[in-house]
Amino acid sequence: MPVTLSPLTPSFGVDAAGVDLGGPVAAEDLAALQEALIDRLVMVVRSQNLTPEQYLEAARLFGDIMPQHLTRILMPEHPEIAVLDSRQSDKDKDGKAIPTGSRAWHTDHTNHARPPKFTLLYAVKLPSQGGDTSFANMQAAYDALPAEERERLRPMVTVNVIEPDTGNVGDDARAALSKAPQRHPLIRTHPVSGKQAIYVHPGKTERIDGMEPDESRAFVRDLLDRAITPDVTYRHIWRPGDLVIWDNRATLHVAHRNYDASEGRVMHRLIIEGEVPV
Ligand SMILES: [Fe+2]
Repeated sequence: MPVTLSPLTPSFGVDAAGVDLGGPVAAEDLAALQEALIDRLVMVVRSQNLTPEQYLEAARLFGDIMPQHLTRILMPEHPEIAVLDSRQSDKDKDGKAIPTGSRAWHTDHTNHARPPKFTLLYAVKLPSQGGDTSFANMQAAYDALPAEERERLRPMVTVNVIEPDTGNVGDDARAALSKAPQRHPLIRTHPVSGKQAIYVHPGKTERIDGMEPDESRAFVRDLLDRAITPDVTYRHIWRPGDLVIWDNRATLHVAHRNYDASEGRVMHRLIIEGEVPV
């Protein structure tokens, strides 16, 4: 059966049905999936049953696997894969596990010179309720801003550093990443589609070039508050076996923490090598 592609929202997102990423993917199906991902930015492939080897193989259909800086939670036999297990996450002051995932809208790993172009999450185990992931189409968000504001934003540059409090980053990885802040354009042009998008990780943005850190934080918060409207978002309600892949160059995402971390929410995460943002 050839792959069937259905939109998840009018603005972006695609559900790819009729594909088993555990086996060989026909050339025409692969081309359709790759094109849909660029066009729709978030792709959901339901009902997969993947060994770690098959998962790696599937990810390679979309590019080269990028090493992860979450060095404390890598799968021992397959260190390309990070295992996000809410039961193993940092505990709060009462000893309760803090749900994994950033609580604020962001794109992944802007503290790298070449941040990952795609991130993949594969749902292995889910809590009884909650733990959704939301996505925002930042191309549509940017396009909806007034022309005068778009012009003002275009030359802005963010200065990116690793956050001090990400517990899953090992000391060596942190030391390597802490050396050089990375400068990225706030408005990024997609290297394939040529579309522009707001590109920012508020937690990793030390400042916008030319602004003080406090001023930058307020500026980014205000921008995202206005730009991320319900019309440009998609909320993914996970089912076991879901594989979701998204384009970090043109979307932001946020993990909903409204679940009981002790029940266990287990995601296998992979990232794909990207390019220098322009
Ligand atoms: Fe993320």
